[in-house]
Amino acid sequence: MAATARDFLALEGLSASQLLGWLNAAEGMMPFATGERHHPTPLPLAGKVVANIFFEDSTRTRVSFEVATKRLGGEVSNLGASGSSASKGETLLDTAKNIEAMGVDAVVVRSAISGAAIMLARHLEVPVINAGDGRHEHPTQGILDLLTLQRHFAKTFGNGEFRGRTVAIVGDIANSRVARSATHGLVTLGATVHLVGPPTLVTSDFTTLAEGEGRVEVGHDLDGVLPSLDAIMLLRIQMERAAGSGVAPDYRGLYGLTEARARRLPERCAVLHPGPVNRGVEIDDAVADDPRFSRILPQVTAGVATRMAVLNACVRES
Ligand code: CP
Repeated sequence: MAATARDFLALEGLSASQLLGWLNAAEGMMPFATGERHHPTPLPLAGKVVANIFFEDSTRTRVSFEVATKRLGGEVSNLGASGSSASKGETLLDTAKNIEAMGVDAVVVRSAISGAAIMLARHLEVPVINAGDGRHEHPTQGILDLLTLQRHFAKTFGNGEFRGRTVAIVGDIANSRVARSATHGLVTLGATVHLVGPPTLVTSDFTTLAEGEGRVEVGHDLDGVLPSLDAIMLLRIQMERAAGSGVAPDYRGLYGLTEARARRLPERCAVLHPGPVNRGVEIDDAVADDPRFSRILPQVTAGVATRMAVLNACVRES
């Protein structure tokens, strides 16, 4: 299926063929994302302006949406919470409607409010792309994670199939929109997902988080799952959302991917982290920087390709 959309809001509810369509579109953008080749002219976003409304901090997502828009020939207008009239009490909806009234062609939004992007999509005429909404979803991160894994599986096993693969997502699942989007995508495509972390942050009800050909297993023993893994994704403890959740003081000892644990991973296992990384907490320096395992920087490159694919589909067709 071709990658088409008006808005791009969540991976939950996308079929396997829709997800594979997005992965194909993102893979097709890889040579342009890396700068290896220039996108053929006429550039699809020539004359278009994309407004990035980021009411939470971001490095990777904001800059990669900006790079992606520019590589497709468009222009970008960036707005953050500080320095905008949000600090005077203006609502997100009023902010977005005012920016839409300036004639922009799409809105990319990051907000601490779960459901913010869906709410804006209901009220705006222009396409809305979710760049992370509270604890809900981070769908372009989900596609870039799947693309990174698909490329790793293709190189390691000779095919990019997700069926039969086992992936652990470790850490602050309760507060993680990254984990939600990745889990929806992986289970839809047939993978087994182990959600692992402290009992306060990974509860048994997460076994029903996603539906599809694959399945979700919940557990609290990282060492027990290491030998079975084709990939492991570490998550940052989100102190901005985890207040009062009782995060263990010895987090690294229990759930960190230490050098000792990395030695027990199968050779085939890729290590992912969406960033920002708390070095020495959820992952040791030596593991994060080890090119034999780490796919952390390839994830970032896949992020530009993914955002190019999403912008190309949503903005060009609007
Ligand atoms: N992965 C991710 O969303 O990173 P940023 O918060 O830096 O955008």
